[in-house]
Amino acid sequence: MKKITVHTSTPYDVIIERGSLDRSGEYISSVTKSKKAVVVTDDIVGPLYADRLVSSLEKSGISASVFVFPNGEQSKNLTVLSNIFDFLCMKNITRSDFLIALGGGVVGDITGFAAACFLRGIDFVQIPTTLLAQIDSSVGGKTAVDIKGGKNLVGAFKQPALVICDSDTLKTLTPQILADGMGEAIKYGMIKNSELFSLIENHCLKNIDEVMDELVYTCIDIKREVVEHDEFDKGERMILNFGHTIGHAIEGWHGYNNFTHGMGVATGMCIMTKKFCSKELSDRLVKCVENYNLPTSTDIPMSELLPFCSKDKKRESGNISYIVCPETGRAEIRKATVKEFEELMEG
Ligand code: GLY
Repeated sequence: MKKITVHTSTPYDVIIERGSLDRSGEYISSVTKSKKAVVVTDDIVGPLYADRLVSSLEKSGISASVFVFPNGEQSKNLTVLSNIFDFLCMKNITRSDFLIALGGGVVGDITGFAAACFLRGIDFVQIPTTLLAQIDSSVGGKTAVDIKGGKNLVGAFKQPALVICDSDTLKTLTPQILADGMGEAIKYGMIKNSELFSLIENHCLKNIDEVMDELVYTCIDIKREVVEHDEFDKGERMILNFGHTIGHAIEGWHGYNNFTHGMGVATGMCIMTKKFCSKELSDRLVKCVENYNLPTSTDIPMSELLPFCSKDKKRESGNISYIVCPETGRAEIRKATVKEFEELMEG
């Protein structure tokens, strides 16, 4: 078992261990005295893993009910959030009880936000079952739902009480969902760790499982370091958005359908590197991204993407912060007005 402690305003452990899903009750009992929980999951992950989780909780004397919603980003909304609150009321959940998010990023984001709001805040545990959720969204305390105005526009910082990552759960992922997480893993190599980038570029979608434990640990440790320095996303944490400004724009252009977050991040990183860095680095990144069957460019004209960039919530009163990695393992935060950014990208 490997453990990473995240020293944020409320510190917590991330447990990384194959088979830890079946030991969740034990691990959770060590961080809470509560004997009652609600597991929030979706209709793909629930049937795969909820029974095992509930049985592990019961062995540790914790009773749990399960709330299931339809899989996908379209569920990360105020209606599903409200249904979660109704379920918590029906189950008489009190401030000393807790929630467990069992699933990918959507489940983690909406459950974390429910935990931040219900009774003005109750504890929650993250059990991420996708690569993207294990290495990114379950750690760092960003929780949110989407509204008509945009993705993740209503949310809160709420750190989990514990994160349990069982890499065995990644075995049931489709190649596309695994690739989606690899987009974020490549990002960590680019922004902070050139050895990680080399490890990833020397593997591909078919054999990355051989080094999955090392990959998950290294990515989470990078996220820990960044979040510890800037929990509330005022400075350094922005480097985690490498590839995201253009990536979110492409996702938005597609209406968040049939174009995943990892695909967006991969394309965004390649476009930014081609624009601002050496041909050698850009070719290397493109080749690495191709190893994971992720896109490296888009046919959508920049003029159609830029309106989505300026809508991105990272825009600060007329300015855009964008990230450039001049070499693997090093990120720079650059600032421009929206107009300057548009000129740079269209030039
Ligand atoms: N996923 C970006 C962040 O946590 O800041």
